[in-house]
Amino acid sequence: MQTQDVRTLIEQMSIEEKAAQLQQLATPFFKGASDRGAVTGPLIGMDVSDDAIANTGSVLGACGAAETNRIQQKHLEENRLGIPLLFMADIVHGYQTIFPVPLAMGCTWDLELAGQSAAVAAKEASVSGVHVTFAPMVDLVRDPRWGRVMESTGEDTYLNGVFAAAQVKGFQGDSGGTEVGKLISCVKHFAAYGAPEGGRDYNTVDVSELTLREQYLPAYRAALDAGSEMMMTAFNTVFGVPATGNAWLMRDLLRKEWGFQGPVISDWGAVKELIPHGVAEDSAEAAEKSLKAGVDIEMMTTTYIESIPELVRNGILEEEVIDEAVERILRLKQKLNLFERPYRHADEALEQEVIRSQEHLEAARKTAADSCVLLKNENEVLPLQKEQTVAVIGPFADHTDILGQWSWRGKPEETVTLVQGLKTTAGAGNILSAEGSRVEETDETLLKEALQAAEKADVIIAALGEPSEWSGEAGSRTDITIPRAQRELLARLRKTNKPLVSVLFNGRPLDLQEITEHTDALVEAWFPGSEGGSALADLLLGSVNPSAKLTMSFPQSVGQVPVYYNHFNTGRPKSEGRDGDRYLSKYLDSPNEPLFPFGYGMSYTTFQYSGFHLDKTEITRKDTLNAKVTITNTGTRDGKEVVQLYVRDHAGEAVRPLKELKGFQKIHLAAGESREVAFSIKEEDLRYWHPDMTYRSDRGTFSVMAGPNSRDLETGVFKLSDN
Ligand code: BGC
Repeated sequence: MQTQDVRTLIEQMSIEEKAAQLQQLATPFFKGASDRGAVTGPLIGMDVSDDAIANTGSVLGACGAAETNRIQQKHLEENRLGIPLLFMADIVHGYQTIFPVPLAMGCTWDLELAGQSAAVAAKEASVSGVHVTFAPMVDLVRDPRWGRVMESTGEDTYLNGVFAAAQVKGFQGDSGGTEVGKLISCVKHFAAYGAPEGGRDYNTVDVSELTLREQYLPAYRAALDAGSEMMMTAFNTVFGVPATGNAWLMRDLLRKEWGFQGPVISDWGAVKELIPHGVAEDSAEAAEKSLKAGVDIEMMTTTYIESIPELVRNGILEEEVIDEAVERILRLKQKLNLFERPYRHADEALEQEVIRSQEHLEAARKTAADSCVLLKNENEVLPLQKEQTVAVIGPFADHTDILGQWSWRGKPEETVTLVQGLKTTAGAGNILSAEGSRVEETDETLLKEALQAAEKADVIIAALGEPSEWSGEAGSRTDITIPRAQRELLARLRKTNKPLVSVLFNGRPLDLQEITEHTDALVEAWFPGSEGGSALADLLLGSVNPSAKLTMSFPQSVGQVPVYYNHFNTGRPKSEGRDGDRYLSKYLDSPNEPLFPFGYGMSYTTFQYSGFHLDKTEITRKDTLNAKVTITNTGTRDGKEVVQLYVRDHAGEAVRPLKELKGFQKIHLAAGESREVAFSIKEEDLRYWHPDMTYRSDRGTFSVMAGPNSRDLETGVFKLSDN
């Protein structure tokens, strides 16, 4: 179909057909009237006519070649103009081969792995009939109370941007998602959804334009620059106006300033939510505001189909606005060649071959092992010795709830638990297991069994955590400790005086003070996915050396939240030598610093940093500054290290963070090996958003810092001159 043909098609469409083209409905609506009764939750009470369904533009959440093909076939029989459906779904960290949750993926600091996992997800989902994935989620996150931090790669603007780009490339390939085995990426949630007040999901976001541009927007922009074809709005407000009705955000910034041409979709129900938000009196006004703001597709509420014909007839909305939105959707269908191949790559035979293939499961296992963060390892308790008898104790020891949220197609029954992984790798005879306690309740019988197992073991692994539904959407919590019953279990295990390793399964940074004290070694396993248990066995037994580093700070307590590494200095910074001074920016009852900082993570080997130097003391706007540092593997095992580079602008026009990540390199060093790592810095790397909304740098003094995490850094200083 040619460009001209899309316009001709639009000319043939009635206003009702156009409105329906902008509608997205979930799968149950396409299963016939009898199935619609089974729809629950926010769908209750949605009354959509058969006519509107026959003209709907896209489907949410359908998958499986048999199902998508059946829906498409029926649709083409019923749609007057033969316009095929687009199938969209949340393929976030895998389709059926589930990879670690995105926050864990961030901790790999490995863009190749991120791209590869997105590519595997795309391959499996596309043969199952999915066209568009609602991913990556690139919201900057700083508040672990918010359950959706697990969907993001973390608290750093730069890191989120490079991960966003890697994931988009992985999902879409080089063809913008059109080639076989690829998906279209829809980046979300525009904008600043990651900053809800109090960490409560859907809550108000109130950031300045400076903060928005400087910290929150770059990752969305990076996803679009990498070619992401769609954008999803957010539930929250931006400058006092809900994002989904925010013309500044979508018309002025996204379309005019950034030049984005693809379709914008609302988040689930967000168009109609303009009413409870208090910016629309009724459905018609919600539709009007969203359309005028630039939302092309309405997900799961029906204000568009209910109101568009009337709004256009009354002259409140120009038909051109509707036509533009329809055109964007039809162009995407055209780009995917759906008019010629409406079933695209959906293929039941290929599903058998591709989904959960050995190759995919191996990729998931490798990625999971590289995403688990070693936070403590006293007396080198880890790695375990093969001949040791190990008691794996805790509610997550043999639990399959380790896939994490957004793994709706994952198969819990085929997920490798920690106990299964260890038994397969170390031999069943060496592994004892016991539940020890329920997730939230102490149970004396379980405890007794656990202590008996512990008695027989050389070393104990406590498998603790949060159930997956405690994080993810609507998974906000004010208590971010491991539940008391599990902490008590750990305290009892401690009394055995045996070496004690804690392995944690959870989707957010937690307050781990007590856990850290009561354990010799600590592994943050996140929700590691389908091969979680095997990956952990690789790590605990030492065939994989841990290399992951945190991409979100772990607070000392919930009272410190939000705590993040790239904060400003304040006029009264807490500083050395002023301990007795009351009037400083600090807490009376807690350090300012987190328990585990951004970028932190240990290895079974040790790395030494030396010889850090800058090749210039002053640069002009045209020069390149080179920073070099030598890293030596001073231990006895080969290992990978994430070398991090930070910059500080000492006196800007606006206040600047104490440090900002500007680059990193993940290197492999054999035991005893040394390598010099080089980073280059140019004037453009020093630019930032100024109070007058210009993006530029300041002349003056800068620090450059390199090291293994955001806390332990070597520093050099240089000046940027005006010319
Ligand atoms: C979530 C989105 C998701 C959408 C569709 C919403 O509730 O906020 O992240 O893409 O549902 O499933």
